[in-house]
Amino acid sequence: MSEIKTVTVDPGSRRYDISIGRGLLPRAAQFIAPHLKSGRCAIITDAIVAGLHLDVLTKALGDAGIETHVHILPAGEATKSFDHLQSLMSDLLNDRLDRGDSLIALGGGVIGDLTGFAASIYKRGCGFIQIPTTLLAQVDSSVGGKTGINAPQGKNLIGAFYQPSHVLIDTDVLSTLPERQIKAGYAEVLKYGLLGDAEFFDWLEENGEAVLALEPQAITHAIAKSCKAKATVVSEDEFERGRRALLNLGHTFAHALEAEAGYGGALLHGEAVSAGMAMAFDYSAARGICPQADADRVKAHLTRLKLTQFTDLSPEIQASPERHMGHMAQDKKNSGGNLTLILARAIGEAFIERKADTKAVTAFWAAQINKAGKKSTTKIESA
Ligand code: GLY
Repeated sequence: MSEIKTVTVDPGSRRYDISIGRGLLPRAAQFIAPHLKSGRCAIITDAIVAGLHLDVLTKALGDAGIETHVHILPAGEATKSFDHLQSLMSDLLNDRLDRGDSLIALGGGVIGDLTGFAASIYKRGCGFIQIPTTLLAQVDSSVGGKTGINAPQGKNLIGAFYQPSHVLIDTDVLSTLPERQIKAGYAEVLKYGLLGDAEFFDWLEENGEAVLALEPQAITHAIAKSCKAKATVVSEDEFERGRRALLNLGHTFAHALEAEAGYGGALLHGEAVSAGMAMAFDYSAARGICPQADADRVKAHLTRLKLTQFTDLSPEIQASPERHMGHMAQDKKNSGGNLTLILARAIGEAFIERKADTKAVTAFWAAQINKAGKKSTTKIESA
């Protein structure tokens, strides 16, 4: 039997473990049952994940005598809405679930965020377990208790901090994920090296291809390292009053790009984060805060693994400095009308810049757009 790694998250509100290993879904009851206050739960999943993994989970729980109710929602970002939350609440009430029963999120970030938020408000808070099925959800969104839905005004604007009582990560489920999704998740893995662990970045430089190829030892190590890094930060700052904002390295640039792309799949969150992290390093280098050699090393890694960079984006998503600055002004990290950015002094040394210089950031967007335009002209001329 392959090794199971355990990472403990210990924020003030609830201490819980993340179990990481191969073949855990068919043995889910062994991990989940100790955290169920009653013998009942509801599994919330989406139509795609249901087709791939639901039977395995319901059999595992059923064999252990656990009563399961199942709710299958449409796949996609549009599911993180008030409408879907309301109809899920109504279904759970019709199931006559109690506060002592648990919701199990089986899926990616959309299902995890929606289910977590539903758990936080169902009868003022019921049990909650995460079984993330995408790499991105396994290394980021399923850990740390951020839950919520989108508003017409923006993503994740309505929500709550609500920690799960267990996170079960079966690395085998990644084998059904499209390569594009694996790469998007890899960007969040890389983030942990770039923000606080230069040695992990060195390891990714050696082993990035093996991680993307889902080689068992490499992928398990990468997930466990990422979860440990996130657990450390979340345990220190559950409600993002300080250090937790570091987990947003590259995200302020990324959110602006995502807002331009719309949320229909033209640009995945992890793709935007990949481009955004390179921009955070380039901006730090341009400001003389970080050696240009470090920014170049980050971009060389992205290029080698064919991860998204600003120059890969369509002119519509590259948009204009004014549009991006407008999106950045809405960022949740901002305070008192000041723009907050996560920048870097070096690989593995991110820091929070509370009053970023908006003129310099505007000029940086303009320079990026200009450089990308020149590159695409060169490509056409030389074709
Ligand atoms: N994804 C960033 C955080 O959980 O804080």
